[in-house]
Amino acid sequence: MESNANILVIDDDDSMREGCRQTLVEEGYRTQAAQDGESGVQLAAQESFDLVLVDLKMPRMDGLQVLSRLRQDSPDTVVLVITGYATVESAVEAMRAGAYDYIPKPFTPDLLVTTVRRAVEHRRLAMENLCLRTALREQAGRLEMVGQSEVMDKLARLLHKVSPTDATVLLMGETGVGKELVARTIHQQSGRRDGPFVTVDCSALVEGLFESEMFGHVKGAYTGAVESTVGKFELASGGTLFLDEIGNVSRNGQVKLLRALQEREITKVGSSRRVRVDVRIIAATNNDLLEDIRQGAFREDLFFRLSVVPIRVPTLRERGDDILLLANHFLRKYRTRRNPTVQRFTQRALDALRGYNWPGNVRELENTVERALVMADGSAIDVEDLFFYGPVRAHAAVVEDHEGSLAQAEKREIERALSENGGQITRAAVQLGINRKTLREKIRKYGLARSAD
Ligand SMILES: Nc1ncnc2c1ncn2[C@@H]1O[C@H](COP(=O)(O)OP(=O)(O)OP(=O)(O)O)[C@@H](O)[C@H]1O
Ligand SMILES: [Mg+2]
Repeated sequence: MESNANILVIDDDDSMREGCRQTLVEEGYRTQAAQDGESGVQLAAQESFDLVLVDLKMPRMDGLQVLSRLRQDSPDTVVLVITGYATVESAVEAMRAGAYDYIPKPFTPDLLVTTVRRAVEHRRLAMENLCLRTALREQAGRLEMVGQSEVMDKLARLLHKVSPTDATVLLMGETGVGKELVARTIHQQSGRRDGPFVTVDCSALVEGLFESEMFGHVKGAYTGAVESTVGKFELASGGTLFLDEIGNVSRNGQVKLLRALQEREITKVGSSRRVRVDVRIIAATNNDLLEDIRQGAFREDLFFRLSVVPIRVPTLRERGDDILLLANHFLRKYRTRRNPTVQRFTQRALDALRGYNWPGNVRELENTVERALVMADGSAIDVEDLFFYGPVRAHAAVVEDHEGSLAQAEKREIERALSENGGQITRAAVQLGINRKTLREKIRKYGLARSAD
């Protein structure tokens, strides 16, 4: 772009205007000229200029007015002003109003050329920067949220609107629908994207440790507190705090949390000093919180504090052909690692994927595809390679054929997951891509023992 930059010269003085133009053309720039402010602004509205050179002193619409119009209409255009000798103040004023530089009259062609060159280079760098930033943001913002269904479009539009605000968001949805991915996406699309994203799994917090995990404690706060610690609120300062499984916070924890959210201040355990925290809160749950409120298990005031913007993340069942998009997405994600010879799904496999009810949603689909890659021979995943935990609508017959061996396989899978996770239901369920309740039922059904919960 360097010498190809497109420059507009606005000056009511004919010899001045044509002189500048001549010099710039000789330097290889593309130029246009206007003899007053109005026609200059009009030209700039029709065509995109990299640089505008404008005389400050003109009848009717003067240089400052032109400048302010340009800042509004084409803020990326760099503006240089030409000033008379006795008008240093107006040069300063123009710079304040957003001009990049000024050239005092009278000036030599050399001064004009060096000033223009610098301005054009500035503009080139600024544009390059802008492109880079946009590309990076898009990359991060996308975070591989796959989906083109209407419900996902709607969700994307909502996220676009909500993300840049600091509003507290409550994400509700079944297990495995992508709540955490949505939370990360909101963070990435917000002004806090360069700050930390801190996750707390509230269901994993033992009652007695909740406060200290969230707010930190000071040395000697209780037996065993040999060092002071920083809590999650402080860790997330300047960024986003993601409170996952918020429905599992104890009653006592809920009170503490409510206070922190109301006051945006925390107190470390064992300290009396209040500390201001600057965090954006996103909470998630797969519980029916309204039902929990009715049952007295969840505080209504905390619910309202959290659900400034309530967002329901739709189930996979509502996403139509997204199932196939996602299946292919996970195929690409895992094939290199699991089975590089596999290229695609057979039509029968795709039908089965569409026909299944997906109680475990996207996570279950992801696990199903990864497992199928291990099972598949040849270049395609066929229906025999797919392993479902529940009945398949379109291909019930296929499942019945395999019922005996399927049950066997399922039992083996569960045993393996349990032993790999030390008998912990929550972890094993996550690994299997099913929810804890389903896992408990299956453990009972197969008479499997478990060592811990
Ligand atoms: N739209 C999507 N595109 C691509 N991957 C997705 C999408 N939604 C979810 N996933 C993937 O599915 C898996 C489960 O998503 P995530 O952990 O966000 O679900 P969740 O709702 O938080 O589940 P849980 O309720 O069990 O905590 C993750 O590996 C995530 O990357
Ligand atoms: Mg989650």
